[in-house]
Amino acid sequence: MTMSVAARRTRCCGVLAVLVSVAPALHAAGPADAGGTAYATNCIACHGADLAGVEGLGVNLVTSKFVATRSPDALLAFIKAGRMPDDPATVSGRPMPGFGWLPEAELAAIVAFVKSRNGG
Ligand code: HEC
Repeated sequence: MTMSVAARRTRCCGVLAVLVSVAPALHAAGPADAGGTAYATNCIACHGADLAGVEGLGVNLVTSKFVATRSPDALLAFIKAGRMPDDPATVSGRPMPGFGWLPEAELAAIVAFVKSRNGG
């Protein structure tokens, strides 16, 4: 006799039940953690795990007056656009790539994360 459809469903639902029980824990992590994750994916290579910048790549975002003095909206617009070395506002002479292709919610979470780490 082959396994009944009901028995197969039970096995499948066992796996689903595990997924469903993990999902709220991930969700409870909240926007700051979502920002930290998105920062780690997109920004860490140049700005470092501690946001203090990586020599020859990204600048320090903890001590950045630019981050301190921009509104979240302005910072989001900046991250979308980036800043090229020929921009008069350049601080390092190196390129900051634009991230306009990231979903708006992810950009907003990154902005909240970077703001929360900035010491002014
Ligand atoms: C390829 C390396 C690189 C990556 C990846 C990168 N940046 Fe940058 N970022 C730079 C460089 C270089 C500068 C400085 C540009 C300049 O000299 O004006 C900069 C500047 C900035 C500034 C302005 C700092 C200031 O004081 O003017 C912010 C804010 C910033 N980056 C945020 C981010 C965020 C958030 C991410 C991820 C979404 C990111 N960067 C990804 C290289 C990078």
